Amino acid sequence: MAEKITIGVVGAGTMGRGIVQLFAQAGHAVRCFDAQAGAAQAAVEHVVGMLQRSVEKGRLSADAFERIRANISVAGDLPALAGCGVVIEAIVEDLGVKRELFRSLEAILADDAVLATNTSSLTVSDIAAGCARPQRVAGLHFFNPVPLMKVAEVIAAVRTDAATVRLLQALTEGAGHRAVVTADQPGFLVNHAGRGLYTEGLRVVEEQVASPADVDDVLREGLGFRMGPFELLDLTGLDVSSRVMASIYEQFQQEPRFRPSSLVPPRVAAGLFGRKSGEGWYRYEAGQQQRPAARPVPALPANLRVWVDPHAEQADGLKGLATAAGLALAPRGSDADLCIVQPWGMDATTTALLLGLDPARTVAVDPLTPLGLRRTLMLTSVTAGPARDAAHALLASDGVAVTLINDSGGFIAQRVIATIVNIAANIAQRGIASVADLEDAVKLGLGYPHGPLAWGDRIGPARILAILRAQQDATGDPRYRPSPWLVRRVALGQPLVMPEAER
Ligand SMILES: NC(=O)c1ccc[n+]([C@@H]2O[C@H](COP(=O)([O-])OP(=O)(O)OC[C@H]3O[C@@H](n4cnc5c(N)ncnc54)[C@H](O)[C@@H]3O)[C@@H](O)[C@H]2O)c1
Repeated sequence: MAEKITIGVVGAGTMGRGIVQLFAQAGHAVRCFDAQAGAAQAAVEHVVGMLQRSVEKGRLSADAFERIRANISVAGDLPALAGCGVVIEAIVEDLGVKRELFRSLEAILADDAVLATNTSSLTVSDIAAGCARPQRVAGLHFFNPVPLMKVAEVIAAVRTDAATVRLLQALTEGAGHRAVVTADQPGFLVNHAGRGLYTEGLRVVEEQVASPADVDDVLREGLGFRMGPFELLDLTGLDVSSRVMASIYEQFQQEPRFRPSSLVPPRVAAGLFGRKSGEGWYRYEAGQQQRPAARPVPALPANLRVWVDPHAEQADGLKGLATAAGLALAPRGSDADLCIVQPWGMDATTTALLLGLDPARTVAVDPLTPLGLRRTLMLTSVTAGPARDAAHALLASDGVAVTLINDSGGFIAQRVIATIVNIAANIAQRGIASVADLEDAVKLGLGYPHGPLAWGDRIGPARILAILRAQQDATGDPRYRPSPWLVRRVALGQPLVMPEAER
């Protein structure tokens, strides 16, 4: 438990309020300052109101409420922060203004006081460069809403000393949040690890493989993401997200893995920001997202002969589905009206040709999504209408939803997961954070059902590598080049997340 120190919070907006509440609840005296007259007082009243609601709901005792309230005070001016051991700024996202604030604070605070910035997109070293004691400057990046998002990134800038990092870690953990330590690199940890969902989701749509709603459905229902990339972009606002995408790409010196999609700027120009403008990837009526109607399920033809690739991951399940639907199983692909394959990383056309099947009668089913969840059905470039409809009817015959997509190496889910795992592997390769911090940051900060590397282990690191290599071969796009960190672990037969004892 961190010792109780007096904490100053500068900037009493969305983030500042949450930070005040968090540390006051943890037992620290918190002084809140805002440049705008009345803003700090309004923030304190807001926090007190939140605490009062907790008392009414029985989550907080009246005694605890009084103790917490007594911890919070308004600072009338910056000098009133003298004596604070740590000051956290959550002011406007502007380098010059933040530098100026830290310079002023250094003149007021003791030499060993720590200055922490809640910046999302600026380089912490840049803010610290204006300070006389950059070793006492670090990032402390919270997520909105602060009390509920149980993780904060402690950003060690180039000159930050270890004691400063340890102090911020202890403070954060003492307040009940997981403190993950990250290097001062673009997007820090959470926003860096979260890139893959957007970049690859946008590519899938860009290549006409599937619609935004299809991508969202497959990732949400098939893989367990809370929201798909297009739902998330609509929530954040494409005007805001497009700036983040462009800035991370530029800050990483135009790394192809983060290349923004050309689909985005015209939509921003047209004002399709998302929920707040009434239309984005989806339309909103009275705040309700309007989803496109699901494709109707065709009737299942009688006397259909189905061949399932015996090497397919879910061969037994798919054959069982066919026989349960009263269909006959063909012994060879050449005898079948419908051939079903399950490639990893490869597209349906290439798979059909490799197996000597007729591409007009071949479809592919994503082996990554469990058969009981939403199924992705991929067509070759020439799958005929009757084979497509028969496959759709068969896959929907037990009531599971089906998404039809056009030919694409890696379907939707494989592409997105392989991209996320590869970016995470490269975060580990670059030593931006420890594997344990990376995994927790993604689960807590992004709400993914698994940490990215643990997710890679569940699917199989060799399989992830095979998906990336197949995509790299098929497209020639360097964004799929696998991280050496992943390549070496696969070569050694090692898991991506090592058991604690072997680290
Ligand atoms: N909103 C988010 O989801 C989020 C998440 C993580 C980090 N951040 C970062 O946190 C910081 C604050 O964001 P926010 O959303 O709370 O902003 P906000 O606009 O809600 O609040 C900013 C507050 O800072 C005050 N302010 C501006 N300049 C000041 C100065 N020089 N001195 C004192 N007060 C000043 C403003 O009056 C305002 O009350 C930004 O750096 C932002 O990038 C925001």
